Parts: sequence; structure tokens; C-alpha cells
Amino acid sequence: MERKERPIGMFDSGVGGISVLREAVHQLPHEDFIFYGDTAHAPYGTKNRADVLFLARNVVEILLQYEVKAIVIACNTATSAAAAELRRQYDFPIIGMEPALKPASRFHQDGVVLSLATPGTIGGEKYADLLKRYGEGVISLPCPGLMEFAERGEMDSPALHAYFDRLLAPYRNRKIEAAVLGCTHYVFLKDALARHLPSVPLLDGNEGTVRRLHDLLEARDELTDKTENGQVTLLSSGGEDAVALMNRLLHTETKKVP
Ligand code: DGL
Repeated sequence: MERKERPIGMFDSGVGGISVLREAVHQLPHEDFIFYGDTAHAPYGTKNRADVLFLARNVVEILLQYEVKAIVIACNTATSAAAAELRRQYDFPIIGMEPALKPASRFHQDGVVLSLATPGTIGGEKYADLLKRYGEGVISLPCPGLMEFAERGEMDSPALHAYFDRLLAPYRNRKIEAAVLGCTHYVFLKDALARHLPSVPLLDGNEGTVRRLHDLLEARDELTDKTENGQVTLLSSGGEDAVALMNRLLHTETKKVP
């Protein structure tokens, strides 16, 4: 098969990356996608770097069996732990993600920007570099246990609202200028978070990541020539229930909050 007609691989520790896939299908409707959710090994965000690298490499090997032309790491944690190493090892485009601190910095004046991400992302070197450049006014909030709400399909439960209440209590009297959703799972919790942060811009990196994917494929002349809609294949190490949830989320629109 001509290289440009191969599918694009994408993966995450679970359902979070489906929010990236949704954006990718929207921007690149003619491409075929193979998405792998590593649900059996989730969460990545509370594991150490070496373990996440090991898991990410395993998933890349699985995706390679489908002869993908590029891989999107639809996970901030796995990007932080593994992208550089994987790019050294493999000779095809690997697109990663990072918390949207750069776009958030445009909102910063005299208040604070809250950055929500996994402990793994916030503890990583990549994040420390990002903070050096765009960290003014940023308060980093590691959120262990938060991705699990999205994994359970629990996007609006009393327990989730209690989590946000606890997390945000110390900042109730601060001027919050923006909040960064630095984990792809949190995109599915955006509507719930918006109720705790009314009229605060909630920023994720999905659109920018897919734009980079497009630009990279275009530069390599590897965008498909097909004109009909592409196919999406969902795979998971977590079995049928996990695939069913991924499928449901792929077809659910999240409201656009500012
Ligand atoms: N979705 C992943 C991210 O973007 C992490 C979730 C996890 O496995 O902890 O960071």
C-alpha cells in the first residue's frame, strides 16, 4: 500500500485520547485511524517514567502491526515520559502533546492560571521546561484520581464535583484567568469543571496537536488522496466494555465552553 494511504495510529492510557481522535476525525475526515486505549495499564499518570516508557513502546509495537504512517501520542503523560526516546528509536513521525501553557499565557495579567495534569506530567522534565517559558502566574495542580472519572464514564457525578470542590478550594478568592486541561481525559470533564470555574477559559492542546499532525503529513506529502470518509478502528487492552465506552465518547459532542 502506498505510504500516504496507510492509517494514522493514536494511543492513550485509556479513553482520554478519544478527545484527540474526535478532533482528528473532524480536521482530517478522509484519513483512516487506529486508536489504541491501554486501559488495562491505566493510569499512566501515577506510574514512574520507566514504566510508562515501557508501556508506550509496547503500544507502538502493536500499532506498527497495522502499518501506520504516523503515531499521535494522545496523552500528555506518555509524551512527557516517552516521546523523545521513541523518536530516537523509530523512523516515522511521532506527534506528542503538552499542556497548553503557551496559549494560556496570553490570558495572564495579574491573576493566576491553573494547570491541571497528572502527577507524572507535572513531575516531568518537559513540564519544567514549559514552566520556564510560560510559567508566569501558573499554579500547577497534580490531579491523581481524576482521570478515573472519565474512565468510569462518570462525567457529572457528585463525587466528581466534590473532587473539583476540594481541588479548587484554596483558589476561591483568587482571580483565575484560565485553566489548562493538561491531560486528555480531562477534556471529557470540561463541562463539570466549567461549573466550578464559570467564564474561565478552559484550554486543551487537542486542536494544536491535530494541526501539527496535518502539517507534518502535508510536508511529507503523506496526506491521503482519498475523498470518502476514512475508517476509525478502536482497540483496547481493556476488552469490550472499554471499546464500547470509547465508541460512545467518540460520538458525543462536548459543549464548547470559552
Ligand atoms: N490521558 C493521559 C494524559 O493526557 C493520562 C491519564 C493517565 O493515564 O493518568 O496525561
